[in-house]
Amino acid sequence: MTKVGVLVGSLREGSYARKWAEEFTKLLPEDFEVTFLEIGNLPLYSEEYDENEPAEYASFRAEAKAQDAIVISTPEYNRSTSAVLKNALDVGSRPYGSSVWDGKPTIIIGHSISNISGANAIQSLRPTLAFLNMPVLPQPEVQLANSQKYFDDAGNLNNEGTKDFLQGAADAYVAHVKRYVD
Ligand code: FNR
Repeated sequence: MTKVGVLVGSLREGSYARKWAEEFTKLLPEDFEVTFLEIGNLPLYSEEYDENEPAEYASFRAEAKAQDAIVISTPEYNRSTSAVLKNALDVGSRPYGSSVWDGKPTIIIGHSISNISGANAIQSLRPTLAFLNMPVLPQPEVQLANSQKYFDDAGNLNNEGTKDFLQGAADAYVAHVKRYVD
């Protein structure tokens, strides 16, 4: 069993970032066990917490550490990723020397409700993930534009071409993960 942790960079009920993550992870094989790592309850990171670990940090770090691979689904906020997602990455990266992210193969899904598609959010994450030694799937880039047009009233993905695109990305991610995980 390969354990996959999912980080969603939006706390909003009805978030498209969460819907895209759900659609993407449905396409992973059965031996990929998917856990959504909840990040909305993590206090804003401060170095003082390195000596006085909040309970929310302890459980998040333990759950994240137990994963073999990571899926990040981010909205674009002001031409960047969201603060809540960056906070979760920072929390998991500390105390220095005990990052829970080290070596975990990752895919970034970026979306927005405009034509921009989350491209800037994806680019904003790349230096951070490189520094955290999280190898990111290079291709395909999962840039999803106009998210609101892709889900019906019941919240289901309504576009076969996009499903095929996501399946291709899921297959590439599986191959990417297998390069790093036994
Ligand atoms: C946005 N949005 C947005 N969209 C975009 O294409 N480029 C951007 O830079 C921004 N910036 C931005 C900042 C902030 C603070 C908010 C709240 C929103 C719009 C964004 O794409 C839209 O709200 C998405 O629906 C957010 O993702 P979730 O919550 O649906 O996952």
